[in-house]
Amino acid sequence: MTSHSVWLLVAVAAAIVLGGCAAATPAPTVGPKPTATWIPIPTATPRPTATVTPTPVHDSVAAARAARLGRGVNLGNALEGPSEGEWGMVIEDAFFPLIAEAGFQTVRVPIRWSAHAAAAAPYTVDPVFFERIDHVMTQALASDLNVVINMHHYDELFASPDEHADRFVAIWEQIAGRYEGMPDTVYFELLNEPHDRLTTELWNPLLARVVSVVREIDDHHTLVITGADWGGLDGLERMVVPEGETNAIATFHSYDPMIFTHQGASWVGPEIGTLGVTWPGPPEHEIELVGAARETEWVAAWFLRYRSLQGDANPASRAALATMMDRAAAWRERKGIPVWLGEFGAYETADIDSRVRWTTAMREEAEDRGIPWAYWEFGAGFGVYDREAGAWREELQGALIPPGGE
Ligand code: BGC
Repeated sequence: MTSHSVWLLVAVAAAIVLGGCAAATPAPTVGPKPTATWIPIPTATPRPTATVTPTPVHDSVAAARAARLGRGVNLGNALEGPSEGEWGMVIEDAFFPLIAEAGFQTVRVPIRWSAHAAAAAPYTVDPVFFERIDHVMTQALASDLNVVINMHHYDELFASPDEHADRFVAIWEQIAGRYEGMPDTVYFELLNEPHDRLTTELWNPLLARVVSVVREIDDHHTLVITGADWGGLDGLERMVVPEGETNAIATFHSYDPMIFTHQGASWVGPEIGTLGVTWPGPPEHEIELVGAARETEWVAAWFLRYRSLQGDANPASRAALATMMDRAAAWRERKGIPVWLGEFGAYETADIDSRVRWTTAMREEAEDRGIPWAYWEFGAGFGVYDREAGAWREELQGALIPPGGE
């Protein structure tokens, strides 16, 4: 019996147990996560239905699974930190029902596996860390959310691709082995934003290699793949889809324009340090550029256009976002592979009205083209949820999940 069928049996057994008596008896332990929580728990409030329509041209498993991703949110700044909590965010069980009840269908869970695996072959993943991931995934599934687990911030791989390629593949071998039996609402995203020395030339063959290794273990979960150059559209257009892979979704990220979405963020260069950049352009008030912005040619040129161009011609316009989404949709049509906007968001340093306008525009332009998405992120600096207040940031939440289920 495959572990897939074991899981089915466990789920059926758990359903019988749950249906038959009020107190759930623990299901027998098989595999990593054998609890009754696989059964979708009905939520008290009716969930708004997503309006992301299935990709019309592709009648495939991958297209259906992409459409099912619908509206999602990233649980960022937690498990992809050096250790969970180090960046101020710990994933709480209570987040999942909250997220589901708010109308999201999917959580993307960024994970820094590389900080929890041995440095030497066979690169064993820390079993305690695995158990933590098991728990997070189980909680997501218990709230009837799709869960995309990824490999995030493998910085050593980006710096030394040749040295880390075997370890990268070996870690995926373990992840695939552990989660092969999970429901198909689990998705494996192989690598977040390849960049630095992991160029397109090196990434394409490594992607093919990791896909073939995962596929030897697991031929049924949907894989999420991406291009180099930070997972943007340029990289996607240069990505070579691994031969024979038919159950994959291609993901791209967009924070365009970075000068607006990442203004003053600590992890970007000083040329992005000018505050007060509103969206859309041109700005109503004069903006004082920081020195590094004035001195960086492309940034200075961007501001010139941002200050002077009206309407669709402005680089901070809805038309610019629409053009980008058109490119993503065109790639999907050419390749016959669904696309997913796996990250987009505007940081807290931007004014809230501009953030709401930009977030609304991004969501609408994606959904108009049947592109499912996941907002970056839930409860930290881009947060749609205010953890201190224990409440949704209503304007942002409304930008993502419009009231009335439009
Ligand atoms: C990075 C985060 C960052 C976000 C926005 C993500 O891919 O992993 O660290 O906050 O993009 O820049």
